[in-house]
Amino acid sequence: MIGFIGGSGIYEALPLENTREKEVTTPFGEPSAPVTIGEIAGKEVAFLPRHGPKHQRTPTEAPYRANIYALKELGVERILASNAVGSLREELPPQTLVIPDQIFDRTKHRTPTFFGSGMVVHMPFADPYCPHMVEHLSESSAEATDADHHSGGTYVCIEGPQYSTRAESEFYRDQGFEIIGMTAIPEAKLAREAEMCYATVAGVTDYDVWKSDSEVTLEEVLENAAENEDAIKQVVEHAIRNLPEERDCDCGHALEGTINTPTDAIPE
Ligand code: ADE
Repeated sequence: MIGFIGGSGIYEALPLENTREKEVTTPFGEPSAPVTIGEIAGKEVAFLPRHGPKHQRTPTEAPYRANIYALKELGVERILASNAVGSLREELPPQTLVIPDQIFDRTKHRTPTFFGSGMVVHMPFADPYCPHMVEHLSESSAEATDADHHSGGTYVCIEGPQYSTRAESEFYRDQGFEIIGMTAIPEAKLAREAEMCYATVAGVTDYDVWKSDSEVTLEEVLENAAENEDAIKQVVEHAIRNLPEERDCDCGHALEGTINTPTDAIPE
């Protein structure tokens, strides 16, 4: 099964056939919504809107662990996600789609792991997105939509809910980062711990605050997120249709050799 986690502006599933809704409970609480399960080209797809069906949760409050756990439980092996992001580059204006291949984590108040409580896991995370899925989403962006798109780049993930100060925005730009958002972490970390492939298509909604002396406004973010919605769905649908049946990457055995607790010390 393939998972799709929709970000701001994507509250409804892709055009799926034979849909049903499934309530899933997890040891980490309720996911952000019942999971919509359906089919695209005969492939089973499970959809979750990250912030809830009516955008009731802040990026800090989204139930990342429950969402990833629920998808894993349903048999999802590969997750495609979407995020609304600000741009740190002149050449990536609003309504550009970006498929990032790196993340810089500036979050502070989120639980970034399923482990702990007696089980110590140190997971490699040098390449936070599945390289095959990044390539696949990039190809899909080129083939499925007329929207401008950019393959690769660093997503700096801030805690929010406030946008950045001008000093922070200029600092991130000086580091060479491309886009800024609030939701890549811990989703990408948890997907890796769950041995799932994960990649995202980020829709640019604004230029953050480095470019002019104005602020990011909710109005422009929502307006551009709505404009990005169709293109993101087209890319994801195309990506699902053309995804190879089997995965051919290392994500599926990401836990191998990472558990640093003797098995007899792991709680039942
Ligand atoms: N989401 C959309 N625009 C953003 C910005 N400028 N900073 C952080 N998150 C965002």
